[in-house]
Amino acid sequence: MLRILAAVLAAAAVLARPADQARLRAPIATGTPDTHVAHSNTSNDRPTRYSANWAGAVLHSPVDELREITGTFTVPAVRWPQDEGHWSSQWGKIWIGIGSDLCGDKGANIRVGVEIIMQSSGEIDVLPFYQAYPNPFTFIGGNYFSSGDDLVLSISLDSKTSGRVTVKAPAYRIEIRESFATGPWLCPHDAEWVVEANIEDGEIVTPPDFGAIVFKDAHAAGVGPDAAHAIDMFQQRQLTEVSVGPSTVNVTYLPDFFTERGRTGARAQ
Ligand SMILES: *[C@@H]1O[C@H](CO)[C@@H](O)[C@H](O)[C@H]1NC(C)=O
Ligand SMILES: *[C@@H]1O[C@H](CO)[C@@H](O)[C@H](O)[C@H]1NC(C)=O
Repeated sequence: MLRILAAVLAAAAVLARPADQARLRAPIATGTPDTHVAHSNTSNDRPTRYSANWAGAVLHSPVDELREITGTFTVPAVRWPQDEGHWSSQWGKIWIGIGSDLCGDKGANIRVGVEIIMQSSGEIDVLPFYQAYPNPFTFIGGNYFSSGDDLVLSISLDSKTSGRVTVKAPAYRIEIRESFATGPWLCPHDAEWVVEANIEDGEIVTPPDFGAIVFKDAHAAGVGPDAAHAIDMFQQRQLTEVSVGPSTVNVTYLPDFFTERGRTGARAQ
């Protein structure tokens, strides 16, 4: 018990570091996520959807309400981007959420995860956040985690307008907890596991090669992602290949074959 408390206090101390926040430009509040469904593959009953800024899986409630969601992922190492697209060191976020897909701005939604920021050194900053839309996006930890760390995300709703989010790092015995309350009712009809590209100066950022980001131990109200729609990111070309399993969502970055081939060719000469 004491250890857990110490860990929570450590997390609270991390929260107090203002420098990380000062460095950041204010993120765009994407409470109503910018999912452009460009086209969909209707060859099965759960067609893959394509989005300019989302990759992952969205579960549309087969039960009355999806009041909780969890997922664990390993913070990826990130390779500097190829010379294509619009990219930024503040390229995106990895998160889980409830209500972000179906209800738009007609209801509240909640998400928790991390923002990842690349440094020119090759290091990354990993900044936990949550957003109980329409309330603002809020960082809830400092720059404490790095590539290879396992983070456990969870959300549970206590009422139609309140709930709790947690970000746990079991290896460090850190647990960051926040309670939230919204004005409008939360929309409990969808739950999602998402890798999201940021929007900067009105343009959607092209993520760098993140290898694979795999949500494990993923479920929402006891339902697994194999019942969900996969969403692939598509910007000029398809950037991800998403596969879903009974408890996993695997978002694999697709290499740019043209660029790879070009490089191989250049090296050969
Ligand atoms: C749709 O999905 C099927 C099965 O995965 C695949 O064979 C087909 O090529 C896809 N079609 C398009 C247009 O992506
Ligand atoms: C994720 O998918 C990629 C591509 O299919 C595969 O190589 C990798 O093993 C998968 N990882 C996990 C943990 O399922």
